Amino acid sequence: MLIYLDGHFVAKEQALVSVFDHGFLYGDGIYETMRAYGGTLFLLKKHLSRLKRSADAIALKLPLPINKIGDALIESLNVNKLREAYVRLHISRGPGEIGLDPALCPAPTMVIVTRPFHDYPAEYYECGVAAAIVKTRRNHPLALPPSVKATNFLNNILAKIETIKAGAFEGIMLNWEGHVAEGTISNIFMAKKGVLYTPHPDTGILEGVTRDLVLRLAKKKKLPVKEILLLPRSLYAADECFITNTTMEIMPVTKIGKKAVGNGKPGPITATLLQAYKKEVLACLKTQAS
Ligand code: PDD
Repeated sequence: MLIYLDGHFVAKEQALVSVFDHGFLYGDGIYETMRAYGGTLFLLKKHLSRLKRSADAIALKLPLPINKIGDALIESLNVNKLREAYVRLHISRGPGEIGLDPALCPAPTMVIVTRPFHDYPAEYYECGVAAAIVKTRRNHPLALPPSVKATNFLNNILAKIETIKAGAFEGIMLNWEGHVAEGTISNIFMAKKGVLYTPHPDTGILEGVTRDLVLRLAKKKKLPVKEILLLPRSLYAADECFITNTTMEIMPVTKIGKKAVGNGKPGPITATLLQAYKKEVLACLKTQAS
């Protein structure tokens, strides 16, 4: 497995970063997780635009122009001869003296890790997974905006520790006001009486690339969609619930805490959207091939 590190492909064992890297010292960096299907990076442009927004938000100068970053991602897939892959792009502030001033780090560190993609077990999609609402609140947007895809992940890790203790697959975090925000690594949707609901970006969430696609697919299917301030009690009363991210795609949630969602089985809206998502992936592969 060859790792891209600052312009070179090196073996995993040689992919080493300085202990003075501010990514290591302070969690000062950004990242994107992508999925390749049949050798094509799905929704690459969307991931790269979010990367640029994250970089701007933390005043990080990208080490390469955005199109060259795209080329490096594609090259990483090719040198590793991967078609179904998990791809993680990581850009940290880079090495510099100890201290918070980003000016101490003249050159950011860029890393691309690719590995074969392992599907989630089929039963997760057939039966749904369990979620739990955790006590850890999502970062306040005026503290560390969740809209930035930052490598600084302690907020989510604290929530994950609670999730594991609760025996759940995903932890649902509320925002500072008690509104449903998002999962530790996913966005959340619910359906009630044929209407699809998801937390409004003002709740303080990462606007997932998958969330965005699901919203577009729902509109295409003429499904009424509402981005709202969502209360936990509405979530508990949902007919259907699912979580989304780049690797899970659309994963049904059939239990929240001790309560079954709807009839305890993945619902028809979830199934329709997952089918539409798969079609979108195929369409993207066809466009790439032609
Ligand atoms: N995580 N919210 C959070 C907090 C996330 O970490 C993620 C993704 C999402 C969904 O984003 P997208 O649809 O663009 O994947 C929402 C990725 C998968 C990760 O941490 O690797």
